[in-house]
Amino acid sequence: MKFNSELMKKLSDCFSPSGREKNVREMIIDEIKDFADEIKVDPLGNLIARKKGNGKKILFSAHMDQIGLIITHVDEKGFLRFSNVGGIHAKEIVGLRVIFDNGLEGVICQEELKDKDKLTMSKLYIDVASTNKEFVKNNFHIGDMCVFKSEYYETEDCVICKAADDRIGCYIQIEAIKNHPATENDVYYVFSVQEEVGTRGAKTAVYAINPDLGIALDVTATGDSLDGIKMDVKLGGGAAIKLMDKSMITHPEVKDLLTNLAEENNIKYQYEVLEFGGTDAGPIHLSREGVPSGVISIPTRNLHSAAEIINKQDVIECIKLVEAIVAK
Ligand code: CO
Ligand code: ZN
Repeated sequence: MKFNSELMKKLSDCFSPSGREKNVREMIIDEIKDFADEIKVDPLGNLIARKKGNGKKILFSAHMDQIGLIITHVDEKGFLRFSNVGGIHAKEIVGLRVIFDNGLEGVICQEELKDKDKLTMSKLYIDVASTNKEFVKNNFHIGDMCVFKSEYYETEDCVICKAADDRIGCYIQIEAIKNHPATENDVYYVFSVQEEVGTRGAKTAVYAINPDLGIALDVTATGDSLDGIKMDVKLGGGAAIKLMDKSMITHPEVKDLLTNLAEENNIKYQYEVLEFGGTDAGPIHLSREGVPSGVISIPTRNLHSAAEIINKQDVIECIKLVEAIVAK
């Protein structure tokens, strides 16, 4: 199996912050339409692709949305005030370029501050590089969203890109649909909306599908860089089988299932305990009378930044694990 750089670049470059997932949804439909037995878009915007079977219902979920910013106010000077859509910290975004759905760009600037530790979102603004107030007024409006602008880059073993969270999960599901092994299982691949603002899309998707097993595919942090996060997961360590995060404790039988499948199929894996954050598996495992659930995580450095780093071989191990579950 080879890493499909072209597909991942296309996914990463797609403009689709939470609640505005149309672009990436259309792109994914185009990728999988010849491979899925059934494709549905639900009223919230979740994309649900099915590979039909008469056996157990398995739900996989990866979220389509990415973190972004939303304009709250265009001021008299023509600067844009904004709020965050998803987990973004004011201190980490000064100087970053942003891009809107219409292709226009800006740069995040900060007001003069005596105490730099007091930096909050309200002290930041976007300069859209125009002295023409009419241009600004006509092109930027309250409610418009933008995302970080950053160029896709690869080394031999790793990728730097924006929105690896969670376009890499979407990438894994697309590859799994294309290489779907023969199975009795009835498999639903959910490409969910609005995960970054509270795992909202997965809530309705899981209710409609009512699966026997739920597996989310999403990024997780690592403990192998110098950013101070203390955890076991490392880049290049293989697929991360989540044991716990803030939204879920993995069902013991699901932990055993994933571990045994990894062992049997020579899939490189590691265990993950994440002390912050959650995934679509949160709402999935709490649906109706409860759904045994787990998460296959992709180790990611610089999570929720404009330049997230993932390892290509980890991604391939994740795909192999998804295929092993489908075939079981
Ligand atoms: Co995220
Ligand atoms: Zn995510």
